[in-house]
Amino acid sequence: MTALLGLEGVEAAYGESQVLWDIDFAAETGRITALVGSNGAGKTSLMRVISGLLKPTAGRVIFDGADIAKVPAEARVGRGIALVPEGRRLFAGLSVLENLMLGAFSRRERGAEADLARVWQHFPELEGIAGQLAGTLSGGQQQMCAIGRAMMARPRLLLVDEMSLGLAPVIVDRLAATLRDLNRADGTTIVLVEQDVDLALEIADRGYVLDTGRVVMNGAAETLRDDPRVREAYMGMAN
Ligand SMILES: Nc1ncnc2c1ncn2[C@@H]1O[C@H](COP(=O)(O)OP(=O)(O)OP(=O)(O)O)[C@@H](O)[C@H]1O
Ligand SMILES: [Mg+2]
Repeated sequence: MTALLGLEGVEAAYGESQVLWDIDFAAETGRITALVGSNGAGKTSLMRVISGLLKPTAGRVIFDGADIAKVPAEARVGRGIALVPEGRRLFAGLSVLENLMLGAFSRRERGAEADLARVWQHFPELEGIAGQLAGTLSGGQQQMCAIGRAMMARPRLLLVDEMSLGLAPVIVDRLAATLRDLNRADGTTIVLVEQDVDLALEIADRGYVLDTGRVVMNGAAETLRDDPRVREAYMGMAN
């Protein structure tokens, strides 16, 4: 099994306050990897380290065989790493289409039309409101737009932080189906951060559990789903 992304001994801090300790993490090529853990465990911080928004204080970040620890965030998009950030972070004053096209900025080659067609295919309701300001969209539409924006970068590694938060189950199912399709049809490698642990481990092939900035468990998604410790701590089930 080859890993498109590998972290070795990664540590990170906000100023004096360390939030990640000795993180070993791998996202296998063509697979979906879930990253779960309680509030404040460090999931978003780890995604920020991978996308280049938070500089590690120690360790190595290997993408496609190269150490990218010193590569700035913008250049990582060009290499094929796209982030759907926690809270979606659309430009509220720009239209749906303008937000989507921002996702294609890093690509030198043309062909944004084909990628746009793919976004409309997955999220037909966005096409009808392409001119509408992103700030006026429903939560579900915003998440579709945020995922669509990342799709426009044609990523090899797609990072999705808290996709399902605050959304209706029927919308979450559709977003999950889109991720599965990007993974199976395009071979996109995905790292999924989710507060809905059941959902994350259902979609994913492998999973990591973070607790107060450390990896405390990792393994096949179905093994983690059956693990009583995971069920008790993160799924609210006694066994
Ligand atoms: N910009 C920041 N400055 C200082 N501390 C921060 C900052 N962002 C996060 N932290 C702290 O880092 C720790 C890890 O936070 P992080 O957001 O990575 O966790 P998380 O697992 O994504 O949590 P959540 O489930 O709430 O999204 C927390 O203690 C948090 O308070
Ligand atoms: Mg978070």
